[in-house]
Amino acid sequence: METKIIKIHDLESGRLSIEEAGELIKAGELVAFPTETVYGLGGDALNKESSKKIYAAKGRPSDNPLIVHVADIEHAEKIVASFPEEARKLAKKYWPGPLTMRFKKNDLVPDTTTGGLDTVAIRMPDHEIALAFIKASGGYIAAPSANTSGRPSPTLASYVYEDMQGKIPMILDGGQVGIGIESTIVDFAEDEITILRPGYITKQMIEEVLGVKVLIDPSIDGVKEDAGADAHPKAPGMKYRHYAPKAELTLIEGEDDKVLAKIMEILEGAKATGKRIGLMVIEEHMPTLTQFIDEKNLAKQVSLRCIGSRKKEATIARELYKVLREFDDEGVDVIYSESTSKTGIGMAIYNRLIRAAGHKEIQV
Ligand code: TXA
Ligand code: MG
Repeated sequence: METKIIKIHDLESGRLSIEEAGELIKAGELVAFPTETVYGLGGDALNKESSKKIYAAKGRPSDNPLIVHVADIEHAEKIVASFPEEARKLAKKYWPGPLTMRFKKNDLVPDTTTGGLDTVAIRMPDHEIALAFIKASGGYIAAPSANTSGRPSPTLASYVYEDMQGKIPMILDGGQVGIGIESTIVDFAEDEITILRPGYITKQMIEEVLGVKVLIDPSIDGVKEDAGADAHPKAPGMKYRHYAPKAELTLIEGEDDKVLAKIMEILEGAKATGKRIGLMVIEEHMPTLTQFIDEKNLAKQVSLRCIGSRKKEATIARELYKVLREFDDEGVDVIYSESTSKTGIGMAIYNRLIRAAGHKEIQV
């Protein structure tokens, strides 16, 4: 199958293409589309066969449920058993936005979409192309991130093409996404309101709107020391190794000076091994390390990338997956990254990083 990439500059000039994408969805095909978080691989959420195609194209286990994307709250209400008052408050504040809410589902949603669960996760993306596409498709788009299972989520249409070429008929290209990591998932299907996946919308932002404490699923990496491979997360996707670059990634965590010293030690060591190193550091450390690499004549062996500023962690979220994919393309042998804070959006970034690293972390 030939995969068309269609650049959408604005809704006006892109109208026909978005309509064509909607027709493909109604015919049971898949279309990748931009959202504010990452690109999604969309199919008709109410069509059993579409979700099967999504699992096949991604190479994803079919017990891993899909998020249903809607363009208005009325469509969300029609597919749930109940829409609690607290969820309504959050929707009012953060929909459209990078927030997914999980509810008890009703019979309109096929089991194939929810991986056999009796719950459905719903999100309204804050992206005009996504919203227009959902409307053109009949109102319900099931979409995981548009990467091959186990690869970093795509933040550019060209990354979707890398993974989905020949497998889907169309990619709507809306340029680089704004946020860069997947939505926050909050559970309203059980008694206690719980964050199942951290994202741009933080625990504090949610608590401010609701005026009550919310829980964080203890299986989320970085929340509890013993979490990780053996935990049983409520979001099944969180149990799989994820976001994995091809080269082995190790995080370095500790006080700034010690982290810098450790990085320098690793770089010096690389001279002997001849390995090519991908290095991800914060903006604040770029000058020192650039100079070090230069002085030690390591420029050919080390690919140094800035992942954003610690003072503005949202910039790290935006670049993270892109940098990981660039290291894949360059074919580095090993990757080292500085760790991030574990609060606010830092929690979401750390959660992705530590999973990409398969829990390999050096404490200094
Ligand atoms: O930002 C996002 O949420 C992106 C864009 C495309 O919207 N989508 C995304 O989908 O990240 P995906 O499939 O890559 O991740 C969805 C996560 C998985 O970990 C899955 O297990 C969980 O959501 N999930 C979906 N439905 C669920 C349900 N009913 N119960 C528990 N977890 C659910
Ligand atoms: Mg994903």
